[in-house]
Amino acid sequence: MAKKNIKNIKKDFPIFKNVKVHGKAFIYLDSGATSQKPKMVVEAEANWYKKHNSNIHRGAYQLAEEATELFESTRSKVASFIKSKSHENIVFTKGTTDGINLVAQSWVKHNLKRGDTILISEMEHHSNIVPWQLLAKEKGFKLKFWPVTSDGKLDMTNMNSLFREVKFLSLIHVSNVLGTINPVEEIIKKAHRKNIKVLIDAAQSVPHRPIDVSKMDPDFLVFSSHKMLGPTGIGALYIKPARHKEVRPYQSGGDMILEVKQQGSTFKPVPGIFEAGTPALAQVFAFGKAIDYLNSVGMQNVLRHEKSLVQYAYQKLSAIPEVTIYGPKPANRSGLVSFTVKGIHAHDLATFLDKEGVAIRAGHHCAMPLHHKLKIDATARASFYIYNTKQDVDKLAKALQLILKQWQSSINK
Ligand code: ALA
Repeated sequence: MAKKNIKNIKKDFPIFKNVKVHGKAFIYLDSGATSQKPKMVVEAEANWYKKHNSNIHRGAYQLAEEATELFESTRSKVASFIKSKSHENIVFTKGTTDGINLVAQSWVKHNLKRGDTILISEMEHHSNIVPWQLLAKEKGFKLKFWPVTSDGKLDMTNMNSLFREVKFLSLIHVSNVLGTINPVEEIIKKAHRKNIKVLIDAAQSVPHRPIDVSKMDPDFLVFSSHKMLGPTGIGALYIKPARHKEVRPYQSGGDMILEVKQQGSTFKPVPGIFEAGTPALAQVFAFGKAIDYLNSVGMQNVLRHEKSLVQYAYQKLSAIPEVTIYGPKPANRSGLVSFTVKGIHAHDLATFLDKEGVAIRAGHHCAMPLHHKLKIDATARASFYIYNTKQDVDKLAKALQLILKQWQSSINK
């Protein structure tokens, strides 16, 4: 696929041509929740049904063999995208949440003992909290929270005592609320020295920056297709080879078995053991096209573009006296800004912004414990991706100024 210039790609996304909001151009600043899709990804799903549809790993006829080949070549694309040494380390899941639940039920449940500790951080979103709460209750594990500092970073001051008795660490790479980029390489090294196994929730990092699992060395890493230009309902889980033999089945049924007898079955190794039933074939195919698209832009370019947008947004928003921004300074944050505006609730703000055509997310962003820690009930969040421009940020800042003016004049009436 020909290289793409990131400065000129909004036109590849049909939604920006098709949608007007309250008669205004659609400014989408909610890619942290889900990304928009380029035309080639939208068309790929339909093309699967028009040109390739048949089941995989079963048929001996030409179309089924081609379908299997397309499915498995997407696995290889995912592997290369995160620099996994082998496609056999990649499991297709329904997404990040499914991947975390899979690791909880198939590895952590069987490799920790009653009284062992699972460590997660105070900046996790609910997908990386609730599965551990349920498992800890069921199996008698302890659940410990890694504190977050007032400037929105992990407190790295006393890691020896933090890691005491911990057997498993599940950590967000990039915070979906604060934009904090956790130093996962350093953390994983330290955890492994204490024989702690690590899962990295990379839902907000794989779409936005180059990832190299061979350098990072997590035991498990999860992410979602829909946040990286691909379809919903599909995602990937990376499993380090050293963990392959320690897993148990998660869901069971066809295609994950080697042999089934009346009184028992044997199972395929990773990844097959985790892919029971017919997978989301059209979605996997389109996920591969999303990866092709991102590769044609270049992940270093994606990172550079988002850095410059977040820098610009931080500067524009912090120039508005009523705005408070949460999390680290722009040099150390990913492409999102969560903020509050004095006197206006985040939900009201989102509704007002929508009237100006600007879509942001408002609320707790599926991270209630973090909001409790910050002592706020809700924030407004603008999150950026490759199709956003400085003009989009200008629209947001202008709309905020307008809302503040209208709000203040309504109070003074
Ligand atoms: N975790 C996703 C978000 O931040 C859903 O919006």
